[in-house]
Amino acid sequence: MEVIIKETYEEVSKFAAELIADVIRRKPRAILGLATGSTPLGTYKELIRLHKEEGLDFSRTVTFNLDEYVGLTHDHPQSYHYFMWENLFKHVNINSKNVHIPDGTAKDIPGFCRWYEEQIVKAGGLDIQLLGIGSNGHIAFNEPGSSLGSRTRVKTLDEKTRQDNARFFRNMNEVPKYAITMGIGTIMDARQLILLANGAGKADAIQKTVEGPITAMVPATIVQLHPKATICIDKAAGAKLTKEYPAEPRVLVLS
Ligand code: F6R
Repeated sequence: MEVIIKETYEEVSKFAAELIADVIRRKPRAILGLATGSTPLGTYKELIRLHKEEGLDFSRTVTFNLDEYVGLTHDHPQSYHYFMWENLFKHVNINSKNVHIPDGTAKDIPGFCRWYEEQIVKAGGLDIQLLGIGSNGHIAFNEPGSSLGSRTRVKTLDEKTRQDNARFFRNMNEVPKYAITMGIGTIMDARQLILLANGAGKADAIQKTVEGPITAMVPATIVQLHPKATICIDKAAGAKLTKEYPAEPRVLVLS
């Protein structure tokens, strides 16, 4: 696991976008795992710029999103379907047939979750998974206490997560109580992980994730076991780390 600390959120976003763009350039039919929330907005902005100004081609790219609130329709402004189309997909040349986002309105949720897992496998597995982190250490909506081997399923949202996300809704009562989420096992099967965090509100979660023991009570700590994971954060999110970390990936120079 590599930890990279950038000065600013903009630099974190550019780093993540470049990593994802690199995967797409090397493999036009790349299978991307995507996230929502505030954190990846800068990354999506930069990916859109790379598409518009440098011709980054999404025409064959396949995407799978991490999660979706149960009960929100695709056109609900707080649904993750709406978020992804507004903030990325409608600005690039992606084929809508290649976009996969959990369906929060599915009648048979367990059946849908099995189908979603099968689609990831059928597509060839995730080449890179983009992750944010909750202030409680969740990844996707795998809340503290989630099984570290879990697969896509429905989860009850933590009270802390509902409070953190209440800023997007008119009041607490409107914040959904359940979400469909990829499991921790699903995420760990991705060939590469990039976890982003910015701001002081993530400093505790990042310290535990990078320097703490692996525990289901801080689900992001599992990333320590991934063979190809990068954690890229800004100064504020890294403020509680006790070791030194570089600003650029380490490059091994063999003489
Ligand atoms: C969203 C997701 C969540 C967020 C996390 C951080 O798809 O999987 O785990 O990454 O809640 O959210 P923000 O970025 O809004 O702080």
